Amino acid sequence: MCGIVGYIGYKDVKEILLNGLEKLEYRGYDSAGIAVRNEKGVHVFREKGRIADLRQTVDVNVQAVTGIGHTRWATHGVPSKDNAHPHQSTAGRFTLVHNGVIENYEQLKKEYLLDVPMKSDTDTEVIVQLVEIFANEGLDTEAAFRKTLQMLKGSYALALLDAEQEETIFVAKNKSPLLVGLGEGFNVVASDAMAMIQITDQFVELMDKEMVIVTKEKVTIKNLDGQEIQRAPYTAELDASDIEKGTYPHYMLKEIDEQPLVMRKIIQAYQNDQGKLTIDQGIIQALNEADRLYIVACGTSYHAGLVGKQFLEKVAKIPTEVHVASEFGYNMPLLSEKPLFIFISQSGETADSRAVLVKVKEMGCKALTITNVQGSTLSREADYTLLLHAGPEIAVASTKAYTAQIAVLSILAHATAESRGIKLEFDLIHELGIVANAMEVLCDTKAEFEQIARDYLASTRNCFFIGRALDYYVSLEGALKLKEISYIQAEGFAGGELKHGTIALIEEGTPVVALATQQDVNLSIRGNVKEVVARGANPCIISMKGLESEEDRFVIPAVHELLTPLAAVVPMQLIAYYAALHRSCDVDKPRNLAKSVTVE
Ligand code: M6R
Repeated sequence: MCGIVGYIGYKDVKEILLNGLEKLEYRGYDSAGIAVRNEKGVHVFREKGRIADLRQTVDVNVQAVTGIGHTRWATHGVPSKDNAHPHQSTAGRFTLVHNGVIENYEQLKKEYLLDVPMKSDTDTEVIVQLVEIFANEGLDTEAAFRKTLQMLKGSYALALLDAEQEETIFVAKNKSPLLVGLGEGFNVVASDAMAMIQITDQFVELMDKEMVIVTKEKVTIKNLDGQEIQRAPYTAELDASDIEKGTYPHYMLKEIDEQPLVMRKIIQAYQNDQGKLTIDQGIIQALNEADRLYIVACGTSYHAGLVGKQFLEKVAKIPTEVHVASEFGYNMPLLSEKPLFIFISQSGETADSRAVLVKVKEMGCKALTITNVQGSTLSREADYTLLLHAGPEIAVASTKAYTAQIAVLSILAHATAESRGIKLEFDLIHELGIVANAMEVLCDTKAEFEQIARDYLASTRNCFFIGRALDYYVSLEGALKLKEISYIQAEGFAGGELKHGTIALIEEGTPVVALATQQDVNLSIRGNVKEVVARGANPCIISMKGLESEEDRFVIPAVHELLTPLAAVVPMQLIAYYAALHRSCDVDKPRNLAKSVTVE
């Protein structure tokens, strides 16, 4: 969701900004723009659509060493050139990019800007107009910016240029991610280290309600009272090659293929010198002190949480609830006496999850974040963090983060069980190794899944995924993958639930993907398949070695029954990938979606 870049230094800035924006494309956007400042003033280039479209509009003759750029994912106002950032104040003195949502923008408009003609439908324009109004009243830019920030309610990451102030970018942050990167003779601003990792790996984290004055020599962080804050930089552990596609046509395919490696990395990361799986003692103690765990997450991470609940209850024997973050605020369950919250988030920036984290911290609860991004907001604000070690996930459709989340949850449950003296019935390191091998086999069988996508999904309007027990959760994830990238109406159901309504939708030829990896319910799910076939469905049964039957379309290599989601999801991911490809969809950047959902 919206991305920001900025550069101030000695090189021509246009290409640096455009390259940086390309690295942020994965976050999702529908328009983009850059503003560059030189001795002649500020030059703005904006376009609806892709960065490639923006490139066409940028005047190559304009040279500048200072600039800001933005990818916009529309919230206020349709995706259009007028609503694209950067936005400029009426006199053109100030130019601004913004990520987030200003909740009181209507009120600010009424109070201060009644006479100011607005050029866009965005909440952002209010900010830049206010800065100009306060500057016209005699404040210097820093003071005008600070005064404006003090009035804003909501979330923002901001970068501001002043046409009258040479070589400075004014930056601010509240609830939306933003980093400042440090270089030799230059400094940068970015929503995500990935955008600037090609030119620096030294970054400074910004906290909420901070503003920063960035020149090419200096970075000065202040709070909104104007007091200076000292903060040391950190080294972003990101390899520039991690964020390249290499020979792959899409990031999603690369990330699906990386899953066996990620499983092995996770085993390594959580293994101690004695070869045992281990988790930080503080985290284990927090789980042991809790009388109930509350997993909070969105989308794919929520689906991973559903599987995690099974481990935490069956292996570690701790009652666990799983909640969709966006609903938690209104539908908060009656909490137990000693709750522990577990936030699962690939990005660590999801606003819905963060809103719950803020609320439960205010209530005095402890929280653990399981995330792929060290130093992300959810990680910083929780008491404890477990990392996924999945490497950057760039495709909007989450794949390797899902399997990494499940693997880390299994290790967490395993280590907690061990600390409680619970006798473990299987060797998790060995079983995760088997999973990694099974994933490899599945990734090597792509042609099979491409054919399934062709046979079942080439021209269908809809598709159902059914499963029981753990397979039900994988069905939910399979349906989410398919709908988000192929735009086929897809729903996941508990096999037994179909007859309570959804079976009415089954028509001649309706594809029904049925998962059969659970021994206890193997016969029941096959019974459900018979029910839909009797009504004309076109069934695609994906089973597991040892449970297979003649009618099955594909048989997954056997893995431990509790870990089946790790293997069973790979066919779901590949089928969705090929269905989207056959339909000529933009696999890595599906319409309307953002990778990092930083608005509630
Ligand atoms: O970064 P998060 O894990 O918190 O993101 C949560 C969801 O937005 C995310 O999983 C989304 O559902 C994916 N696009 C699914 O592929």
